[in-house]
Amino acid sequence: MNTASRATIIATLLLFTFLVFWLAGDPLCTGCISRVPQTPPVEDSGLNVAINLASSYGTYALRSPDGTYHVGRTNGSEEYIQMMSKLSRASSQHLAPPYRDMGESFLDHPRKLRREARKKIGLPASRDVGILGDQLREIAKDLQSEAHIRVGEVVVTVPHLLALYQDDIEDACEYAGLEYVHLPHYYDPLVWETMAAFAGYGLGLCNHYKKLERCWEEEKNMTTWNLLTVHYSQHALTTALTPQHSAYGGLFEPPYRHAENFSLGLSAKDDFRDPEAYWKAVRRELREVVEFAHMGFDEPDLVVLTGDSIDTEEFMVSLKDAVLSRNPTVHSNDGLFAVAKGAAEMLMRGRNYFPKPSPPLLAGVDL
Ligand SMILES: *[C@@H]1O[C@H](CO)[C@@H](O)[C@H](O)[C@H]1NC(C)=O
Ligand SMILES: *[C@@H]1O[C@H](CO)[C@@H](O)[C@H](O)[C@H]1NC(C)=O
Ligand SMILES: *[C@@H]1O[C@H](CO)[C@@H](O)[C@H](O)[C@H]1NC(C)=O
Repeated sequence: MNTASRATIIATLLLFTFLVFWLAGDPLCTGCISRVPQTPPVEDSGLNVAINLASSYGTYALRSPDGTYHVGRTNGSEEYIQMMSKLSRASSQHLAPPYRDMGESFLDHPRKLRREARKKIGLPASRDVGILGDQLREIAKDLQSEAHIRVGEVVVTVPHLLALYQDDIEDACEYAGLEYVHLPHYYDPLVWETMAAFAGYGLGLCNHYKKLERCWEEEKNMTTWNLLTVHYSQHALTTALTPQHSAYGGLFEPPYRHAENFSLGLSAKDDFRDPEAYWKAVRRELREVVEFAHMGFDEPDLVVLTGDSIDTEEFMVSLKDAVLSRNPTVHSNDGLFAVAKGAAEMLMRGRNYFPKPSPPLLAGVDL
C-alpha cells in the first residue's frame, strides 16, 4: 500500500468519525441512535385532536361532534421535565424560523442542515425533538387505546418557553408519526397555553361559529380582559399577562409579559428554608409580570388557571393575596384539561370556517 492510498484511508476514517459525532450531536443521547420514525397512521382526518405538552406532563383532548370530549393525562419522563426546564431559560435560545432577516436565515443554515441530515438517517432532528416526540407518541398511544381511534392530525399546544420553536414541534410530530396541524384561522406560529386555556374555559368564543359573519359580529361585542394566565404544576410556575378579547384575536405576549419558573413548582417546596419562604417566592413570582418595571400595566380582572397543582390550598391563598385588588373573576375548575380542550375546540371551529386546512399565515417564513 503506498503512502497516498494510506493517507486516503486515514482521511476517510477521520471524515467518517467526524460525521458520526456531528450527527450524533449530544453524545449523551443514548436512547435515540437506533430509533426509526414510524410511518404515519393512515386515515383519521376530521378528528379534532389536541395534545397539550405541559410543563411536566401531557394531556390530550378529542372533541366529539356532540360537543363532549375524551380527555386524558400522561406523565412526563424525567428527561422531558428537565428538557422543558432547560428550554425555559434565555440561555437556551438560538436562531430559528421565522427569521427577522436574510442574515439570520443564512446563519441558521448549518443547524438546519444538521437536522435534515439526522432525519435522513432515521434520528430525531435533535435530542430535544427525540424527547418531545417520545412524549407525543406516549400521549397519542393513550388516546388511541382510550377512544379506539387512530390519531393522525393533531394540534399541539405548548407553554411559552423562550427556546421552544415551531420546527421542534413540527419535527417532533413527524418523529412520533403524527401530522402537525396549524390551527386554521389562527395567527401565531405556535399555539401557546394562554390562548388555548382561555378558549378551554369557554371564553372568547362566539355562539354562531357556523356562520362566520355572525361570529364576527359577536366578537365585536366581546369584553376585552386584562387576563392573567397562571400555570402551576409539580415542576413549574408560569404566568402571562395579556389583553384578551376573542380567542381567535391573536395573542399579545412579548417576552416582558410572560415568565416561566421551573424552580417554583409544588415539588420544590422542600428546597426552601421553610414553607413560608416558598410561598413568599410564589407570591413574588405571581406579581412578576403584573408589576414589571413601571410599565403601568393594569391589575388583572380575569385569572385563568392551569396545571396539576392549582388545587393546593396555600396556592389559592397566595394567588388571592397577589392579585386581588380588582377582585378578578377566577376560572380554576378544569386546570388539567382546559388547555387541550380549548385547542381541540378551536381546531373544530377553525375547520368550520375554512374546510381545508389553511397554510400558516406567517409561521416559519423561510426568507
Ligand atoms: C402522574 O403524576 C401524578 C403527580 O405526580 C401522580 O399522582 C400520578 O399517580 C402519576 N400517574 C401515573 C400513571 O404514573
Ligand atoms: C352587540 O351589542 C349591541 C348593543 O348592546 C346589540 O344591539 C347587538 O345586538 C350585539 N350584537 C351581537 C351580535 O350580539
Ligand atoms: C425563580 O424563582 C426563584 C425563587 O424566587 C428565583 O430565585 C429565580 O431567579 C427565579 N427564576 C427565574 C428564571 O426567574
